[in-house]
Amino acid sequence: MEVKTSLLDNMIGVGDMVLLEPLSEDSFIANLRNRFDHNEIYTYIGSVVISMNPYRSLPIFTPEKVEEYRNRNFYELSPHIYALADEAYRSLRDQDKDQCILITGESGAGKTEASKLVMSYVAAVCGKGQEVNKVKEQLLQSNPVLEAFGNAKTVRNDNSSRFGKYMDIEFDFKGDPLGGVISNYLLEKSRVVKQPRGERNFHIFYQLLSGASDDTLKKLKLDRDFSKYNYLSLDSAAVNGLDDAANFRTVRNAMQIVGFMEDEVQSVLELVAAVLKLGNIEFKPESRCNGNDESRIRDKNDLKEMCELLGTEQTVLERAFSYRTVEAKQEKVCTTLNVAQAYYARDALAKNLYSRLFSWLVTRINESIKAAPKSRHKVMGVLDIYGFEIFEENSFEQFIINYCNEKLQQIFIELTLREEQEEYVREGIEWTNIEYFNNAIICDLIENHQNGILAMLDEECLRPGTVTDETFLDKLNTICAEHLHFESRLSKSSKFLTDHSLPHNCFRIQHYAGKVLYRAEGFVDKNNDLLYRDLSQAMYKANHSLMKQLFPEGNPAKVNLKRPPTAGFQFRHSVGTLMRNLQTKNPNYIRCIKPNDKKASHIFTDSLVCHQVRYLGLMENVRVRRAGYAFRQAYEPCLERYKMLCKRTWPHWRGPAREGVEVLMADLTVPAEEFSYGRSKVFIRNPRTLFFLEERRRQCLQDLATLIQKIYRGWKCRSHFLLLKKSQIVVAAWYRRYAQQNKYKRIKSATTVVQSYTRGWQARKLLRELKYQKRCEEAVTTISAYWHGTQARMELRRLKQEARNIHAVTVIWAYWQGTKARRELRRLKEEARRKHAVAVIWAYWKGLKVRREYRKFFRANAGKKIYNFTIQRIMQKYFLGLKSTMPSMSPIDKSWPVKPYLFLDGVHSELRRIFHLWRCTKYRSEFTEEKKAVFEEKLEASEIFKDKKALYASSVSQPFMGDYLEISKNPKYQKLNSAMDEKVLLADVVNKINRANGKGTARIFLLTKNSVVLADQKTGQVKASVPLPDLTSVSVSTQSDGFFALKLKEGSASAIKGDFLLSSEHLIEIITKLHRTGATAADSEQLNIDISDEFLVQFKHDKVCVKFIQGAPKNGNSVSCKRKNNRLLEVSVPSTV
Ligand SMILES: Nc1ncnc2c1ncn2[C@@H]1O[C@H](COP(=O)(O)OP(=O)(O)OP(=O)(O)O)[C@@H](O)[C@H]1O
Ligand SMILES: [Mg+2]
Repeated sequence: MEVKTSLLDNMIGVGDMVLLEPLSEDSFIANLRNRFDHNEIYTYIGSVVISMNPYRSLPIFTPEKVEEYRNRNFYELSPHIYALADEAYRSLRDQDKDQCILITGESGAGKTEASKLVMSYVAAVCGKGQEVNKVKEQLLQSNPVLEAFGNAKTVRNDNSSRFGKYMDIEFDFKGDPLGGVISNYLLEKSRVVKQPRGERNFHIFYQLLSGASDDTLKKLKLDRDFSKYNYLSLDSAAVNGLDDAANFRTVRNAMQIVGFMEDEVQSVLELVAAVLKLGNIEFKPESRCNGNDESRIRDKNDLKEMCELLGTEQTVLERAFSYRTVEAKQEKVCTTLNVAQAYYARDALAKNLYSRLFSWLVTRINESIKAAPKSRHKVMGVLDIYGFEIFEENSFEQFIINYCNEKLQQIFIELTLREEQEEYVREGIEWTNIEYFNNAIICDLIENHQNGILAMLDEECLRPGTVTDETFLDKLNTICAEHLHFESRLSKSSKFLTDHSLPHNCFRIQHYAGKVLYRAEGFVDKNNDLLYRDLSQAMYKANHSLMKQLFPEGNPAKVNLKRPPTAGFQFRHSVGTLMRNLQTKNPNYIRCIKPNDKKASHIFTDSLVCHQVRYLGLMENVRVRRAGYAFRQAYEPCLERYKMLCKRTWPHWRGPAREGVEVLMADLTVPAEEFSYGRSKVFIRNPRTLFFLEERRRQCLQDLATLIQKIYRGWKCRSHFLLLKKSQIVVAAWYRRYAQQNKYKRIKSATTVVQSYTRGWQARKLLRELKYQKRCEEAVTTISAYWHGTQARMELRRLKQEARNIHAVTVIWAYWQGTKARRELRRLKEEARRKHAVAVIWAYWKGLKVRREYRKFFRANAGKKIYNFTIQRIMQKYFLGLKSTMPSMSPIDKSWPVKPYLFLDGVHSELRRIFHLWRCTKYRSEFTEEKKAVFEEKLEASEIFKDKKALYASSVSQPFMGDYLEISKNPKYQKLNSAMDEKVLLADVVNKINRANGKGTARIFLLTKNSVVLADQKTGQVKASVPLPDLTSVSVSTQSDGFFALKLKEGSASAIKGDFLLSSEHLIEIITKLHRTGATAADSEQLNIDISDEFLVQFKHDKVCVKFIQGAPKNGNSVSCKRKNNRLLEVSVPSTV
């Protein structure tokens, strides 16, 4: 019997208590201690795992460990929770057996941690993939959410589960998780309003206040300070090693992963805040006239904020805290609440609100994680229920929790101890009975339908009349007095009369895990779990969708007068369902043990461990395992599994399965003491025998696999060979075809070449002949074309002549027709004139006749008078009309009213002329002497230049200023001015054209009454002075340039250098002024103004022709002057200037 590895290898103490020698309680505890000291926290009793809480993190939950335990046999490696998880998962996946993992132990023993380890292991080893990973993540992330809302710090455990949780994880046939369903059991809601000393409220309250952002807290109207809230006990608000703020973030993140919408999270937090606010509402008494006190809210601020949070009307809630409406059948009675009742109502509301919120969370998580309805799911249930609790003061909650633990213990006993023993008896295996304590009697004491404690409590709650905790205790004392596990001072059994450890208001139950003293106070109330209808209706009315869902009974449309089931009844019912569910599954046990009461690592308190070992019944468990067989299996599956180990049974055994197994065992030479044959099963005593069988089977499977592989490979090679052979024939056929095709193609192409040469030769010969033929045809065509051309031209000429003749005829015909038509027209016109004349004469004659007819009716000359009167009226109207429509006095205004009558035509135009002359006279009469002189000058300029020189038009609008240099005022020209003997009539800067090269030099041009003076522009020095009598004429061009030549009298003193050729912008003014002055000068003759584009000037001895030509507009439109030669000086005037 060879096993590769075993839990016996490197074992500290004994890994499986079944192998403990000698077996006693002491050696059992010593073994646990020994292993605990060496960090071995897990020990087996057969397939049950004992887990010691190490209270510190050990490096045994790493991914490597997961890999180590994956797909390994349960007894192959040292004990570990992973081995149990692996075994359960593989049984579920491979053998299609639903599993449940039952984790039991007292509070703080590590159940919740163990459940998380199992879940994380299963998540790590099961299938992978995007969808599967999402499901896994959602299942795992449901834990932080439920722990935040359902766990709290107690004196026994900093993270104590205050609710029971059973989670069914559903898998498909491959073992991939599909989803899950969580069931929750009775949340300890009394904790919401009151916590025992040293304990805290549920984690979420502290997490919210520590971890929420300032903004969130503001929205929830909360303050970060714990001390502001009555429901949060202060003495242990902070817990060592617990980071509430970080946990809050984890919870929010987990909610998001699980699938909570943002508004759902907000609603949940609002309700949590509302609970805190509710705790701060305080009441004061207010006396009423009937002498009773009525409660009133002391400070309404918290109430107001809470109502704002929930969208409730403040008055509705305020009223619900002061009055209570009781409805019975048709009647409604309204009673006032005193202060104590108001506090009771407040707390009841807070408890109900929180516990319903918790249940809603579970339902909501279930919605997210539920598996799609498929055919059949395999299920693995993980049960993590609150542990057995014994506090200093135990109340209804502890009673319920411990009842639940009793039931779990019972199922453990039933499935492991009793079932085991009963199976041996059933199978006819030789067996010595082992005594164990069966706690069914305690379960019966609590849950019996007739006289069980829960039934009596319900009876008491439902009974009419005064019901108190005392009446309930009295009832217990009467009915349970004889029960072996019930103890009470006032019971009929006299043995406790003197027991001072038993107070009068308490009763004691001997649970399987020890005696627990329960205080009867509060049992009735907590069982009733009453919430006044007014409050639930107020909550339903809230404008908060989640709140509405939580209090459906508040809907006035669905008033239910029936009492809701009691808390005890509900719990008993759900525990019953749970037990039935567990019994349908294959159980796997994890028994958690707490090593010490101090939540400290490395401390192992013998007495505490011993107590747990005892009440968990672990010793009995070992004894049963040792006395019995480690493994059993029905004959058929056993033979099916191992038949390949024996030639006689492989591959088919024809006889009964039992005989087959016997043959198999005999063939394998398994020692006889190692197995027993039952009626339907074979029992294997030692796990090693099983390992031996499994190992042989594994080897055999390998051999079989090799055989299958061998045959398969042979078949595969032969098929391959046949395929190759077939392919070769096909390839050869194809190749031959290809070669023949190629040969044929070559012959064909050679033939084609020869053919093509022959055809080419023949074709060329044919072509030559055809070409010759074509040329002949072309020659014929050309000749015929020429002949046809000649014919056609002759015909054309003939036709043209014919057409000309026809045209001539047509024209003559047209002329003749025209003449005829005109004659006809004249005749018609004449006829029409005659007709008209006849009509006019007829009209005159008619008029005459009429006038003659009517003359007798008028007096003599009346007609003439009327005529004159009419004419006068028309004239009057005309003149008056003219008066109002006279044009303006401006001589240039050309407008004139339109003539009204044709006969006034002459008058109208004469009046217009007279009016214009008159307004011109008026205009002129307003002239001053200077202005008159100016206009005379302008008039003279017009006489000289108008229509003669192009420059004139632009000068009309320019006023003649004369002294452009302001010579008398400008000090710069003072000297020059004083040199003048007469008044300066004109002073301007002109350009004197150099006689030699035609270039210009700026000179001051002065005109006085007697002379023309040219002076240097810069110095003012007189360069030339010409007396006006020496000036014979002035020559200018017809164009728009400013050039003028002053021609001097030959032989005069001024004419030594010759005539002056000058240019000025004010040419028109200069020449006009010169002309006027010359005319008035004493002894000068009339100055000639010569306007021509070509004139002669005398430069010294030469007569030079100055010629004006039209040039292209360049050099910025300036006039350029160039001496071309001795005889010619050319001035180019741009056409636009
Ligand atoms: N395997 C472990 N490794 C490290 N620490 C552990 C382990 N198991 C438990 N603990 C520690 O013990 C504490 C209590 O464990 P846990 O909450 O699982 O107890 P419980 O049995 O669920 O108690 P309750 O019945 O009050 O819910 C944990 O908070 C943790 O600190
Ligand atoms: Mg727990």
